[in-house]
Amino acid sequence: MQQTLVLLKPDALERGLVGEIISRLEGRGLKIVAMKIIWVDEALAKRHYAVHESKPFFEGLVEFITSRPIIAAVFEGEDAVAVVRNAMGDTDPARAAPGTIRGDLAQDIGRNLVHGSDSEETAEEEIKLFFYQKEIFNYSEEID
Ligand code: RTP
Ligand code: MG
Repeated sequence: MQQTLVLLKPDALERGLVGEIISRLEGRGLKIVAMKIIWVDEALAKRHYAVHESKPFFEGLVEFITSRPIIAAVFEGEDAVAVVRNAMGDTDPARAAPGTIRGDLAQDIGRNLVHGSDSEETAEEEIKLFFYQKEIFNYSEEID
C-alpha cells in the first residue's frame, strides 16, 4: 500500500470540479485517508514547491497556490503515486492525453487543477508538510 499527496488547486474549487476530480481518483481504486480545505500561506507554498525555486514560473506558482483555498488530501492504494500521476496527465494540458484530468478538464499549464506527488519519497515528505500523522486515517488499525 502506498500513500500520495493530492492537492486540488484553486482553479478546481473555483470551477466546481472538486467532485469530478475526486470521483476520478476514487474510480481508480484509491481511498481517501485524509482531506481538508486550507488556505496555503507563502511559507508552506515555497516549501512545497522548493524544487522549482530557480524556475522562471516559481513566483507565479506560489502566487497562484496561495491565491484562494485549496483542498489537500492523502489518497491510499496500490501504486498510489503512479496511479494519481497517470490519472492527472501531463503537466501541460495541451499535451495531456484525453481521459486524464488535465487532458479533459484543464486548459493552462499554470491552471492545471491538481497536484500529485511524483515519487514515493516526495510523497512522504509532502504528506508531512500538510498533515499530522493523527489526521491520516489508518484502515488497518481500525479493522481487526
Ligand atoms: P504538480 O507538481 O503541481 O503536481 O505538477 P507537475 O509535477 O506535473 O509539474 P512540475 O514540473 O512539478 O511543476 C509544478 C507546477 O508548476 C507549473 N509550471 N509552470 N510555465 C511553465 O513552464 C510551468 N512549468 C510548470 C505547473 O502549474 C505545474 O503544475
Ligand atoms: Mg511536481
